[in-house]
Amino acid sequence: MARRKVVAGNWKMNMTPTQAVELIETLKPLVASDEVDVIFCVPAIDIPAAVEAVKGTNIKIGAENMYFEEKGAYTGEIAPDMIVDAGATYVIIGHSERREYFAETDETVNKKVLKAFEHGLTPIICCGESLKQREQGITIDWIRQQIKIAFLEVTAEQAKKAIIAYEPIWAIGTGKTATSDQAEEVCFAIRCCIKELYNEEVAEAITIQYGGSVNAGNAAELFAKPDIDGGLVGGASLKPDFGKIVNYK
Ligand code: PGA
Repeated sequence: MARRKVVAGNWKMNMTPTQAVELIETLKPLVASDEVDVIFCVPAIDIPAAVEAVKGTNIKIGAENMYFEEKGAYTGEIAPDMIVDAGATYVIIGHSERREYFAETDETVNKKVLKAFEHGLTPIICCGESLKQREQGITIDWIRQQIKIAFLEVTAEQAKKAIIAYEPIWAIGTGKTATSDQAEEVCFAIRCCIKELYNEEVAEAITIQYGGSVNAGNAAELFAKPDIDGGLVGGASLKPDFGKIVNYK
């Protein structure tokens, strides 16, 4: 069975709750699709307003991060229950910006992935290599390591529902997209890694996105690749272009 494409916007630290509603009103008619699943991952404080604004549409709302404890003395963090209660159903885990600026590690990513599943949230698990690692020729080894740690103790039933976003760090926000062949090579390697960790069924079911300067001009070529099941989109998710990415065909 063909996998559905999933296109997720990652708004990063943009849009107040008021602006979020305005943007959603603009994008709503543009992202309507029967074929593609559409997710807006928004700042935590925007979630309630965003959930309200997308009612009656095909759009799902996600968080951009989450802590791995249930509650307590973790000033400033957001608990899984808070995200669920606010009405979001997805959560981005381990984005490279969180790894770089907020000291996230493969181990904390794994804890968060397990927590997300425990609470019925679908994690969008990010992985990706730096330019230096690509130049050293260690991209595939590096990504396989990230994936293996992220999926420690994740069951096959859970893994089937996961989304992995392959985002080469050198392509994020730089306007420098990986070529569709480069992106496919790594997404294929990720699927092979999942097959080794679980089985063919899980590998065929799991969603693997590409992210890094996806735009209206390159989405069709990227999404045509057999192992690229859609995209995680930063900059272009804040513009009407996002509609063209969702309706890339
Ligand atoms: P970009 O960001 O599309 O702006 O490169 C992608 C991401 O960081 O998820």
